[in-house]
Amino acid sequence: MTREEFIPLRDFIYEKTGIFFAENKIYLLESRLSNRLNELGFMSYDDYYFFLKYGNEDSKKELVHLLDVVTTNETSFFRNPPQLDAFKIIFQKNYMNNNDIKSLAYPIKIWSAACSTGEEPYTLAIMILEMIESTKKDIPFMIFATDISHRVLESAKKGVYGPYSVRNMDERIIQKFFLKKGDTYTIKENVKKFVKFEHMNLVDTEAYKRFRFMDMIFCRNVLIYFDEKAKKKVIDNLYESLKPGGFLTIGHAESLHNISRAFKPIMFPGAIAYQKG
Ligand SMILES: C[S@@+](CC[C@H](N)C(=O)[O-])C[C@H]1O[C@@H](n2cnc3c(N)ncnc32)[C@H](O)[C@@H]1O
Repeated sequence: MTREEFIPLRDFIYEKTGIFFAENKIYLLESRLSNRLNELGFMSYDDYYFFLKYGNEDSKKELVHLLDVVTTNETSFFRNPPQLDAFKIIFQKNYMNNNDIKSLAYPIKIWSAACSTGEEPYTLAIMILEMIESTKKDIPFMIFATDISHRVLESAKKGVYGPYSVRNMDERIIQKFFLKKGDTYTIKENVKKFVKFEHMNLVDTEAYKRFRFMDMIFCRNVLIYFDEKAKKKVIDNLYESLKPGGFLTIGHAESLHNISRAFKPIMFPGAIAYQKG
């Protein structure tokens, strides 16, 4: 891929997703796209770009494949325990120790906003089920899980994982919430039913209208792929999607420094949660 081929493709991907490939990532983009080019029989990256940009209905379908190859979908169950401990503290303090909870007219709404293959939203559902098991209270909750990649969403809906995905989980949790068959672990229906998967592009402001009045949002390990402009846009929109007093968690290596001053950072051991004022 020459620099001249790289720039228009890079800008096209950025415009559609917010994902920004810096110029030193030219080989990364090339390696991710080369198989796709071969499959489609394009002779150059220019041809592929013109097909995407100015083509017909098939080009729109190709966008789905493009998104699948340019996104990084690395994730795992119970990723970053200090952030999950903070989630537990927030959840218990705000919803379980709150005597008004029985009068809640609506379920607690939690959004995993770049959910990849589902490990994050299923982890949150498992944690909530564990927390509320010990209480007699009926605490209604819903988890929305969204991603830009259709491929990961299909996999998340199936909820079938290999031994590598479940490596950090206690045997007790695996036994309780998964069906094991050979080397596969399928998430049980009593967890699945709390998680609603949907396609959603975080840089599409219109799409946020479907996600309002959230109590908590997890948007972890996706902002790192965006440039500052896209980060600001996403964070402003997530702010609007939260209820007053609601919490945002971003990746532990990510920061809101220079991105937003609207949130109040709340410190936990090894983790920060950002609260809407
Ligand atoms: C590295 S995974 C993070 C998964 C999970 N949140 C975690 O921390 O383990 C990043 C996910 O962000 C998704 N993504 C990238 N750009 C996106 C966008 N513009 N809108 C929604 N999701 C996006 C990717 O498809 C990928 O599944």
